[in-house]
Amino acid sequence: MDKYIINGGEKLYGKVDIQCAKNAVLPLLAASVLTDEPVKIRGVPAINDAENMLGILDEVGCKIKRQRDCTVIDSSNAASPEISTRLTKELRSSVFMLGSILTRFHRAKISYPGGCDIGLRPIDLHLSGLKKLGVRIAEKDGYIHCETDKLQGAEILLDFPSVGATENILLAAVKAEGVTVIRNAAKEPEIIDLQNFLTGMGAKVSGAGGSTIVVEGVKRLHGVEYTPIGDRIEAGTYLIAAASCGGEIETKGVFPENIAALLHKLRENGCKIHTKNDKIILTSNGRLKAVDLVETMPFPGFPTDLQAQYSALSCTATGTTLVVENLFETRYRYAAELKRMGADITVRGRVAFIRGVERLHGAFLTAGDLRGGAALVLAALKAEGESTVANLYHIDRGYADFEDKLRKLGAKIRRIRV
Ligand code: EPZ
Repeated sequence: MDKYIINGGEKLYGKVDIQCAKNAVLPLLAASVLTDEPVKIRGVPAINDAENMLGILDEVGCKIKRQRDCTVIDSSNAASPEISTRLTKELRSSVFMLGSILTRFHRAKISYPGGCDIGLRPIDLHLSGLKKLGVRIAEKDGYIHCETDKLQGAEILLDFPSVGATENILLAAVKAEGVTVIRNAAKEPEIIDLQNFLTGMGAKVSGAGGSTIVVEGVKRLHGVEYTPIGDRIEAGTYLIAAASCGGEIETKGVFPENIAALLHKLRENGCKIHTKNDKIILTSNGRLKAVDLVETMPFPGFPTDLQAQYSALSCTATGTTLVVENLFETRYRYAAELKRMGADITVRGRVAFIRGVERLHGAFLTAGDLRGGAALVLAALKAEGESTVANLYHIDRGYADFEDKLRKLGAKIRRIRV
């Protein structure tokens, strides 16, 4: 498995063009089987999660064509409502296929989704929402068997504003008979992107970005050409890198309001931040003061997908940072790796106490999941001396050209292909 060799201590300078958002692209790909006309999605990033989702579409019977900067999905011959475990176990987002395949074939069979091991990650809210839309569900031999005579609009109140459940219910409701109302819906920017994509196909969806989404079922959906939003988590990762290492960078492609919670904390750390349209310019001297508390929350709160990277930054900020992870049960596995570098972190359940130290030193580090892996790279960029980061397949799931983009900013990082 590939690994990075990183020599830390370099300040970062320059511009970064941000990829289209992984967490927007995945539900859009799942939505492409809602029509038998071609769907064109620009800027599908070269990341393993997107490859796996395209693999699932291929398995369902879609034809995938990659053009210069556009991926064309033609599902006119899609015929199979079953998805193999080989693909679902790699990808949490395979569960989104339930909503769209049920709409297309009125039945579906998938195994439990895999993805990052960051907590229990049940799908009960997905299944209870689908049941409300008239789906009969049986769980047998590790598979979820779903079927319906007719998808019927319904009022659905989510116990928790789950991103995935909101998206799955949306995909099953767009061609359901009558009106569906989703209350306590997730408000993430990726949900707004899915609404825009679906309305581009002729769906009647409104309210995304707020807690109540209304879907009026339609008979037919048509093809669409679409560019997804920029990846706020990728942008946040580079901004945290520059804040911690020092320097001045500009990210292009993400609107500041989509990562306002992070920018607020980085300003508290002592960074200067200017924004203009979809550009964010951050300047830092690399000597940060710690903020007292960071709590992850559903959007617009502090994103859980930046918790690990921000914790890495806090390891060398002056003072103590209290981090509370409210979304996932076990999202601190990177902490043990950071301790190898001399970090002073104490984890108690969902809380981490981080006492800033003068410096980190290089070490051999192993990525355990996507965002935890990115955090190790950021810590290695800050540390004195050489580090190795192994198990890059975790990072490759969500960051395209990570080492090239960092090297362009002045980082000393290279990939060893094993
Ligand atoms: C999405 O995951 C993202 N993934 C995650 O990003 C992100 O961390 C998460 O939203 C929260 O922002 C994609 O969009 C592909 P949830 P998802 O359903 O949909 C509980 C990354 O690094 N829950 O909002 O799985 C669940 O256990 C990934 O890019 C239930 O209890 O997140 C969790 O505690 C990691 N029952 C909470 O809700 C359910 O049926 C939030 O989960 C569903 C969720």
